[in-house]
Amino acid sequence: FIPPASGGAGGGTTAKDELGNNVKVSQFLSSHNVGDRTLVQGLKGDPTYIVVESKEAIADYGINAICTHLGCVVPWNVAENKFKCPCHGSQYDATGKVVRGPAPKSLALAHTTVNDDQIVLTPWTETDFRTGEPAWWS
Ligand code: FES
Repeated sequence: FIPPASGGAGGGTTAKDELGNNVKVSQFLSSHNVGDRTLVQGLKGDPTYIVVESKEAIADYGINAICTHLGCVVPWNVAENKFKCPCHGSQYDATGKVVRGPAPKSLALAHTTVNDDQIVLTPWTETDFRTGEPAWWS
């Protein structure tokens, strides 16, 4: 029996802020609003959005911010409830599913779990819940 990754040593990548410090979930939740999408450094250092799902919890997935067209970092547009790429106009819905090209694919996902007040990211290799298709990035 092999237990699932616990988020302990070797169990994933700890989300870091722009200064390289581990993000503390308690502080993160108290300083963000429900529905916020906030960038952290995630797997392989990729800019990754953490979604505030409620006052007590983050979503169990993170959204990789790298545009699937040519790799710009895609900002979250609160007013339009979309991710909009400034480079060539691609758009993604609130879960990162592509809704307008030229981007060919949805933004990549990562699993998020909370361990010891830290956010632990692990690779998402399962079906993409937004499309029902295999994870193109894994
Ligand atoms: Fe995002 Fe081209 S890099 S639309």
